[in-house]
Amino acid sequence: MAHLLFDGCDAVDLAREFGTPLYVLSEDRIRVRIRELRETFLDRWPGTSAAYASKALQTLDLCRIVASEDLDLDVVSGGELYAALKAGFPPGRIHFHGNSKTPDEIRMALDGGVGRMIVDNRTELDLLDREARARGIRVPILFRVTPGVDSHTHQYMSTGSLDSKFGIPLDPAVRDEYVEAALRMEGIELRGFHFHVGSQIFSNESHRKALRIVADLAAEVRDRYGFETRELILGGGFAARYTAQDEPEPLAYYTDALMTDLRDLCAGSGLPMPRVGIEPGRWIVAEAGITLYTVGSVKEIPGVRTYVGVDGGMPDNIRPALYGAEYEATVADRHDEPRTRTVTVAGKCCESGDILIRNVALQDPRPGDVLAVFTTGAYTHSMASNYNRLPRPAMVLVRDGKARLSVRRETYEDLVARELLS
Ligand code: LLP
Repeated sequence: MAHLLFDGCDAVDLAREFGTPLYVLSEDRIRVRIRELRETFLDRWPGTSAAYASKALQTLDLCRIVASEDLDLDVVSGGELYAALKAGFPPGRIHFHGNSKTPDEIRMALDGGVGRMIVDNRTELDLLDREARARGIRVPILFRVTPGVDSHTHQYMSTGSLDSKFGIPLDPAVRDEYVEAALRMEGIELRGFHFHVGSQIFSNESHRKALRIVADLAAEVRDRYGFETRELILGGGFAARYTAQDEPEPLAYYTDALMTDLRDLCAGSGLPMPRVGIEPGRWIVAEAGITLYTVGSVKEIPGVRTYVGVDGGMPDNIRPALYGAEYEATVADRHDEPRTRTVTVAGKCCESGDILIRNVALQDPRPGDVLAVFTTGAYTHSMASNYNRLPRPAMVLVRDGKARLSVRRETYEDLVARELLS
């Protein structure tokens, strides 16, 4: 009866020591990914950079890990920025994104010394200019543009198509208005353009299509305004492996194609090669995380299905309910035993849609077993809620076979701490 080992830690022991549901994150796996990124992208292609997208998973520990690896950091809100600064992340290496930044967030970014603002709309541009002039500074910005390509992923994860709430449409009239305004503004220093086509994308085609469109844009604004694009950010979206059916390509499959294309495109239009950035989130953390649950009930509906109820669910992982996302799991107590039973893993919320995994073959789960769900490092903790007043899980960070608490579990007291009785 062998227990599941996750980077040298016994998953059943972790569940006993720290309780469940429990996010377990491997620092070693994150650093391995970043090493691959460095070797196959940053070192292979001079003039490149990579920013980790905090939205996939942000903790103070993770900010420190990313800083220690010399990556940049994307944030999309005052909250993510606050945490990054609190962790001591160098502000000059932070990029601030978002389609609806508030005036407070913009002021916070400028006061904090954020390195790049990724500008999404005209209101934001005007406000940034005003706030920058008031501080006697020029803010380096990139325009987030909508290249109008479809990325063949879940509709909720596709962001680059024309009908998108993100970015500036490349209709020439709109484009000209933005570029002219930015070049005129004293508080703004336009550095270049940014696009992001979507998330969990297996093929490099949509990134490549978007790049061609944005390289054309760079040539057009050079011809029209003499403006030279110095920086181009190509977004994230590189796929992770969730199930055995997923066959994600290595990062270099995307980046080699994009850098080769860009070199050719620049040579063709006589543009100097800009600095190029990518911003992976999921690709860095998804496979570095697992979630441990305790099985509470096993309910067989004869001739229909067997539900295995666990002590978490959609509040700690909304992805199955929101996107139909698929996961794999194991009974950590009997990891090496044959998978004799096909079951459906159900969360504990009062919601029929709170199903974590449909029809998964497991090692005959029983109440009290520890169930480990794989590839939960991205968009679980960061999207967690308190639905049904479930406290959000703790997170442990595993390194060299040792685990330490990184985020403590929420308490019932935490759940009511913001509420004011009259
Ligand atoms: N850059 C920008 C501008 C983005 O909007 C995103 C993700 C990323 C980078 C990072 O994308 P990644 O490398 O992680 O795919 N909640 C969804 C994913 C939403 C992604 C939003 N933007 C999910 O759970 O699948």
